[in-house]
Amino acid sequence: MAKILVADKLAQEGVDILKESKFDVDIKTGLAPQELKEVIKDYDAVIVRSQTKLTEDIIMAASNLKVIGRAGVGLDNIDITAATKKGVIVMNAPGGNTISTCEHTFALILSLARKVPFGHASLKKGEWNRSKFKGIELYSKTLGIVGFGRIGKEVAKRARAFGMKVLVYDPFIAQDVVEKLEVKSVKLDELLKESDIVTVHTPLTADTKGLISKNEFSIMKKSSFIVNCARGGIIDEEALFEALSSKRIAGAALDVFVKEPPDNAKLIEMDNLVVTPHLGASTQEAQLNVAIEISHCIKDALLGKAIRNSINYVQMEPEVYKMVYPYISLSEKMGRFLSQIIEGGTEEIKISYIGEIASFKVDPLAMAFTKGFLSPVLEENINYINAMGIAKERGIKIEQVKLSHEEEYVNSIRVSIKTDKEERMLEGTLFANREPRFVKMDDVYIEVAPSDYMVVINNKDRPGVIGSLGTILGSHNVNISNMSLGKRKSDGTAITVLNVDASLEKSVISDIVSNSNIISLKFIVLGG
Ligand code: NAD
Ligand code: MLT
Repeated sequence: MAKILVADKLAQEGVDILKESKFDVDIKTGLAPQELKEVIKDYDAVIVRSQTKLTEDIIMAASNLKVIGRAGVGLDNIDITAATKKGVIVMNAPGGNTISTCEHTFALILSLARKVPFGHASLKKGEWNRSKFKGIELYSKTLGIVGFGRIGKEVAKRARAFGMKVLVYDPFIAQDVVEKLEVKSVKLDELLKESDIVTVHTPLTADTKGLISKNEFSIMKKSSFIVNCARGGIIDEEALFEALSSKRIAGAALDVFVKEPPDNAKLIEMDNLVVTPHLGASTQEAQLNVAIEISHCIKDALLGKAIRNSINYVQMEPEVYKMVYPYISLSEKMGRFLSQIIEGGTEEIKISYIGEIASFKVDPLAMAFTKGFLSPVLEENINYINAMGIAKERGIKIEQVKLSHEEEYVNSIRVSIKTDKEERMLEGTLFANREPRFVKMDDVYIEVAPSDYMVVINNKDRPGVIGSLGTILGSHNVNISNMSLGKRKSDGTAITVLNVDASLEKSVISDIVSNSNIISLKFIVLGG
C-alpha cells in the first residue's frame, strides 16, 4: 500500500481518512530539511502546512513521491516548478480556511481600531488609562482590499455589514464580480490614498513581493492602518518599520512574516504594531476542513480515482475521470505506437479531438499522448505531469485542435506528426466506449486493437505475402493473435499490422524483411 508522510500537524480526522483507506501513514512533524530529505524517498505522498519547506533539493530526493498535499491555501513553501519537473502532483485545500482567515483579519482590524491589545497589556500591568486608548469606529470608514479572491471577498462582505465603504484592487478579477459585492474597483494608488484601513489578501508571488513598500506608504493617510493576514513579504518589513517609526501611518497588524518565527525584533517590538503568530487559519473548524479536504484529495489521487485541487494537473471529478480515462489510455498507447513508427526528429505534433470528446477537458489526453510518445525514447522519468514540459524543452511543438462535429466515428483522436524526415498520421477511437482501436494510419484504414507486441509492415500488395509472414513467424514459434490489412490503392502497397504474442528476435525480423515484397517493418512494444 502507498506510504504517506504527514510532515506538519494535521487534524486527526484527516489522518483517519487515509488510514481507513489502508494507506501506511507516518506522522513525522518538525523534521529538519536534511532529515526530511533522507526520509522522503520512502513516501508516495507528503502532506504539509506552511512550516515544512519542500524545496527543489528535497523534491528531487523524493524518488517515489507522486503527490504533495498542502493542508491550506498558500503554496509558497513548495517548489512547484521542481515538483512539476519531477512529475509530482501538487494539491492544496483552498476553501477550508477562508472564513477563519477572514475573521482573523477582522480581529486584527478591530484590534487596531479599538487598540484592544494595547489596552489589554496596559491593564495587565496595573494601569487604568482610558484616554490613551481612544479608538475609531469602522462605520463609514474606507477599507482598501488588495487581492479580491476567496478571503478578500469575505472580508468585503463583513466590511459592508460594518457600514464601511470598500475599495478593491485586483487586476485579475472581472468587473461584474466586484459590482455584485457593492465594492469599487480602483487602481492601487487610489486605494492607498483613499483608505483608512488597507488589508492585503494576495498570494506571495514575484509580482506581490514588496507590493506595499516605501512609495506605497508615502501616499497612504497618516491616520491609516495596514493589515497583512496573507503572506510575509507582500508588505516590505523594512519599509513598514520606517512607516511605523516615523508615524507615516498610524499602525499595522501582521499575522505573517518574511521569516517565521520572525527574527525582526525591532519591528515586532513597535508599540503601534499588533502581531499574531500566523493564526489566520488556526481554528478548530479550518484545521478540520483543510485536513479532511486534503486527505480526500490525496486518497483519490493515489487510488487513481480523481485529481482535484491540483496546481499542476488538470482537475477532474470522479464521474468525468471515469468517462475520460479510456481516452487517456488510448492517447498514451497512440503516443507509444507513433513514437516507434516515425523516422527522424519530431518537430510538430497536432492532436485533433473529433466528435463529442472535443467537449471534454482534453489536456489530460495531450499529456497522456506525450507521455506515451516520449517514454520509449527517453530514459528520464516521464509521467503525465512533466511530459509536455519535457517535449517543449526538446523543441517539439504540440498543437491541440477540437473538432466538435462527428466524422467517421462518434469520437476519435487523430494525431499528425511532422519530423525532419516525414509526416505520419494515426487515428484512434474506442469501440463500445471502452475498447481502444487504431482505425487509420496515414491514408489507410486499419482496425487494430493495440497490444503489447505489434508488427507494422509496409508491403507490396501481392498474393502470398501474408501467407509467407505466417510461415516465418510460425517457424519461429511466434503466434499471431490478430491481423489487420489496409490497402493503398494508389501505389499497390498495403499496411499490415500484426498483433503477436511475444517479442521478436532480430533473426525473425531479418527473415521477414528478406522477402522482396516487404518494403519496411517496425516491431512495436506497447506494453501496459
Ligand atoms: P485566492 O487565490 O482566492 O485570492 C488571491 C487573489 O489575489 C486573487 O483574486 C488574485 O487575482 C489576486 N492577486 C494576485 N496577484 C495580485 C496582484 N499582483 N495584485 C492584486 N491582486 C492580486 O486566495 P485566498 O484563498 O483569498 O488567499 C489569499 C492568500 O492568503 C493566500 O495566498 C495565502 O497565502 C494567504 N492565507 C493566509 C492564511 C493565514 O493563516 N494567515 C490563511 C489562508 C490564506
Ligand atoms: C494557508 O495558506 O492556508 C495559511 O497560511 C494557513 C496555514 O498555513 O496553516
